[in-house]
Amino acid sequence: MATQAYDDRDGVIWQDGTLVPWREAKLHVLSHGLHYASAVFEGERAYGGTIFKLTEHSERLVASGRMLGFEIPWSVDAINRACEEVCRANGIEDGYIRPIAWRGSEMMGVSAQKSRIHLAIAAWRWGSYFDEQAFAKGIRMKTSTWRRPPPECAPVHAKATGLYMICTLSKHAMEAQGYHDALMLDWRGHVAEATGANIFLLMRDGRLHTPTPDCFLDGITRRTVIGLARNRGIEVIERAIRLEELAGATEVFLTGTAAEVTPVGEIDDYRFVPGELTRTLMQDYRAATGQTVSKAAATAA
Ligand SMILES: Cc1ncc(COP(=O)(O)O)c(C=O)c1O
Repeated sequence: MATQAYDDRDGVIWQDGTLVPWREAKLHVLSHGLHYASAVFEGERAYGGTIFKLTEHSERLVASGRMLGFEIPWSVDAINRACEEVCRANGIEDGYIRPIAWRGSEMMGVSAQKSRIHLAIAAWRWGSYFDEQAFAKGIRMKTSTWRRPPPECAPVHAKATGLYMICTLSKHAMEAQGYHDALMLDWRGHVAEATGANIFLLMRDGRLHTPTPDCFLDGITRRTVIGLARNRGIEVIERAIRLEELAGATEVFLTGTAAEVTPVGEIDDYRFVPGELTRTLMQDYRAATGQTVSKAAATAA
């Protein structure tokens, strides 16, 4: 489905402290962030006028910048207020918020010690990340040939743009074969995550297993869902998971701000049936985020 290009929309974007008309929110082509991936970002959702876990997202943004060696020149409080301001200014109660910070154009080369740090925040109405039609059976995934790098090779806990290069490569490859998403293994060959979401497996022992986030994002939704499962008395185990162990999983789902709780129906030759636990956690997550309208309705509004 064609959507209106993201640079050609009505509304305003918060850029370096001011609200600018959407189409005028620009950066120079000689920006370090563009050439050398010195940029970090967040993905947030607002439900009924409240941004879910806003402070956690703003804190992670600042922490991601530090992992790339730069200090965002705005406090967590100021970033929180800017996210809320941009939602208000665009009349967004239910939608997605995208803050991004990057090194500017003062220096062009690998070294950019004196580059200015910019921050922009956009917000738009946005529905489901995956095709909701696929939710009954669960989305279809296949293992990517690209793997998550070890912590010695990249700042793996930063939500840094450069780390998404392998995600886009993986997702494109799987979409070309008719899948919804790719499963990424880590450098050891253990199950890591999807291209923009964490993964959980309900094993035959009745416990929920999820990979230890030692080389990928410990998602805010991941942590929320672990709490929701434990509240229901379900044991959650974080550990290294081998790909072959998918054979012992009865239900599998993804978690992420964009993906929320998304049921998975297949990964390679393994099959899963979205069952009671997945449905319960989807509902619990909806309740936790205070969802009152379906995202489809919000998008159409
Ligand atoms: C690669 C990747 N892993 C995991 C997640 C889930 O993180 P969160 O739940 O904080 O949105 C995301 C989404 O931000 C992501 O892009």
